[in-house]
Amino acid sequence: MSVLVTGGAGFIGSHTVVELLNEGYDVAVVDNLSNSKAESLRRVEEITGKKVRFYEVDICDEKALTEVFDKEKDVTDVIHFAGYKAVGESVQKPLMYFENNIYGTIILCKVMAEHGVKNIVFSSSATVYGNPKEIPITEACPKGEITNPYGRSKSMIEEILADLYVSDPAWHVMVLRYFNPIGAHKSGKIGEDPNGIPNNLMPYITQVAIGKLPKLNVFGNDYDTPDGTGIRDYIHVTDLAKGHVKAIEHIGEEEGVRVYNLGTGRGYSVLEVVHAFEDACGKKVPYEIAPRRAGDIATCYADPSKAKRELGWEAVNGIEEMCKDSWNWQSNNPNGFEE
Ligand code: NAD
Ligand code: UD1
Repeated sequence: MSVLVTGGAGFIGSHTVVELLNEGYDVAVVDNLSNSKAESLRRVEEITGKKVRFYEVDICDEKALTEVFDKEKDVTDVIHFAGYKAVGESVQKPLMYFENNIYGTIILCKVMAEHGVKNIVFSSSATVYGNPKEIPITEACPKGEITNPYGRSKSMIEEILADLYVSDPAWHVMVLRYFNPIGAHKSGKIGEDPNGIPNNLMPYITQVAIGKLPKLNVFGNDYDTPDGTGIRDYIHVTDLAKGHVKAIEHIGEEEGVRVYNLGTGRGYSVLEVVHAFEDACGKKVPYEIAPRRAGDIATCYADPSKAKRELGWEAVNGIEEMCKDSWNWQSNNPNGFEE
């Protein structure tokens, strides 16, 4: 059996490929490198001492994707990371997001079905809960009002996959709703390498710490939280990656669409993350309180107990490890994968 990973050159994908290879899986990657570099997969091979078959292909290109599946006859399972993920950009370019994320998934599923491959693990997001009705958030929490096209694309894809299963019960679908992935592989060889100025908290902090950006803007200190700043469930990307290996191990066991929260169950405020990062890197991270960012919520953290119960998975790294490993990656690779 082989696992085909779409978006496998990206941040979460590359870490997942490492964990799959370490567990002895044979892996093929499809990525169009729209938000990543082939160097990440070279480093995956360096870390694991194993080979990855890489296809520089856009999942929206049905012909090219069909050729990949024609060649990769041993593929039994797909982990589907490929997609655009910048919330602000999705507000500016909704059609581009819907086309890449939704149309891309439709083409992928079509080609999979034509090749008799009906096991899919999909990268969803806690964003589908909107402003959550309950904290900690269980999978039973109803989906909320989503404020941007990126989040809507995730929610719609979840529904498309559910409809696909209804139409053909041979499909096994695992929907993984990630909380806030940060950190990097312990080797410091792979990590998050955002284009331009980062939108997310941790890559912004690491670029301040390395001197590329002057200071962090803390988006609001008047939320209903102990220190007034937003609380999130940060999860080490290696823990998240291992969650995908567990999903692949368990995917055939039960029929239907299974949804899992992948988080730690522990929330940290923006200022707690800043201070944990300062401890990890031994430097001060200058920051300033700025206005709230549109669309942000006060508090979001998971109840990850379903994944523990049913997949035997739980996150083991704490915030100290996450900060240490983010810093190790950034300080060893100040320009990301571009040397
Ligand atoms: P990433 O941008 O690093 O990885 C996505 C990869 O998909 C990139 O390598 C990109 O080149 C590739 N890609 C995009 N469109 C493609 C296409 N049409 N064909 C082939 N390849 C394509 O992002 P990431 O942080 O690793 O996220 C992976 C997945 O997890 C995404 O679907 C994202 O929406 C989801 N997710 C991420 C987060 C997060 O905070 N990083 C949170 C929740 C969900
Ligand atoms: C964001 C997206 C979410 C997406 C996730 C991963 C929004 C509204 N949500 O989640 O859909 O799935 O990224 O890509 O964009 N913060 C600062 N200063 C900064 C950056 C962030 O104070 O420069 C704060 C935010 O207000 C928030 C916390 O840090 O309280 C985390 O922010 P971020 O890393 O962007 O993740 P989310 O907003 O949780």
